[in-house]
Amino acid sequence: MPVMPLATRGISTSRLILGCMPFGGSWDGAPITPEHVRKAEQAIDAALSIGISMFDHADIYTMGKSEMIFGSILKRRPGLRERIVVQSKCGIRVGEGAVPTRFDFSKAHILAAVDGILKRLAIDYLDILLLHRPDPLVEPDEVAEAFGILKNSGKVRHFGVSNMSPGQIRYLQRALPDPLMVNQLEMSLAHLDWVDQGIHVNQKAGAAVNFAEGLMEYAQTETMQLQAWGPLAQGRFSGRALADQPTNVQQTAALVQQLAAMKETTPEAIVLGWLMRHPALIQPVIGTMHAERIVACQDAERQAQAMTREEWYTLYVSARGKNMP
Ligand SMILES: NC(=O)c1ccc[n+]([C@@H]2O[C@H](COP(=O)([O-])OP(=O)(O)OC[C@H]3O[C@@H](n4cnc5c(N)ncnc54)[C@H](OP(=O)(O)O)[C@@H]3O)[C@@H](O)[C@H]2O)c1
Repeated sequence: MPVMPLATRGISTSRLILGCMPFGGSWDGAPITPEHVRKAEQAIDAALSIGISMFDHADIYTMGKSEMIFGSILKRRPGLRERIVVQSKCGIRVGEGAVPTRFDFSKAHILAAVDGILKRLAIDYLDILLLHRPDPLVEPDEVAEAFGILKNSGKVRHFGVSNMSPGQIRYLQRALPDPLMVNQLEMSLAHLDWVDQGIHVNQKAGAAVNFAEGLMEYAQTETMQLQAWGPLAQGRFSGRALADQPTNVQQTAALVQQLAAMKETTPEAIVLGWLMRHPALIQPVIGTMHAERIVACQDAERQAQAMTREEWYTLYVSARGKNMP
């Protein structure tokens, strides 16, 4: 059976990741309530119950509250931290109204951000730190210095990026002694540019596609783990009300339901299975906090293994809403 890139680099973890972005509720300064903590704990328990052992954070999620809640739960659960892989991100600065004001890959910002992350999560080390969005002012040697300090002090074990092109990754990588292990991007049946880019080479129809050329192949050549954010397409194909959605979305949702019924599984498992059927062995970062929806994702890997080429293309063409070129 193919082995996912993280595993080949010695990180043993689940194929699914729980995204912890919503744990803190609102992005304003409203305080954390016991209800936030209760819901987050339910989501964590649901994830653990189906074998999810990796959790995704960022310093900015609900302005730090999501990490604080996760940290408060870890503190009460001795032994849990050692059983899971914790990933967080830094590099975005947010201002008034939680709006990103700029990106910052300076050494000072990265070091201070990681100290803040570890404090909020109440842990001594991060398994993986991702740079959240590309900073036009990046200086790879400065990032290398920051990463070196974090690695040598034991604060961060591995590094990766998010929302970056192969060119941006290569540029950073040339200054770093260790491989960047992860690239996290938006990929789903609703956000298809990651597939469309590849099938539109030399086609005018591809002009509107917005995904870095060769990114899928680059990741696979370099044994880099791709992670998909927004993989459930915010529920569009798995039960969310669709009155406001275009015809192709409604038709694809119906197709997902049919396949799920035929295969005696859930719509969530079909939606994620479609993404995971790709040979890059993508890790979906699911963002639901709903315990039942988390459990409904359990069968995704099995569905990916069982999905035929015909089924994969039928879902893809339906979600595209137009014929293949
Ligand atoms: N690297 C980046 O730049 C980046 C950007 C954004 C997010 N992320 C990461 O990716 C994770 C997932 O992102 P995402 O939240 O966009 O992904 P998602 O898993 O596609 O969507 C989850 C959202 O859809 C809702 N949903 C799912 N099924 C539904 C249904 N049947 N009916 C109604 N609502 C439904 C969920 O609500 P319920 O909770 O009520 O189920 C939740 O709000 C985040 O937590 C974060 O860790 C990374």
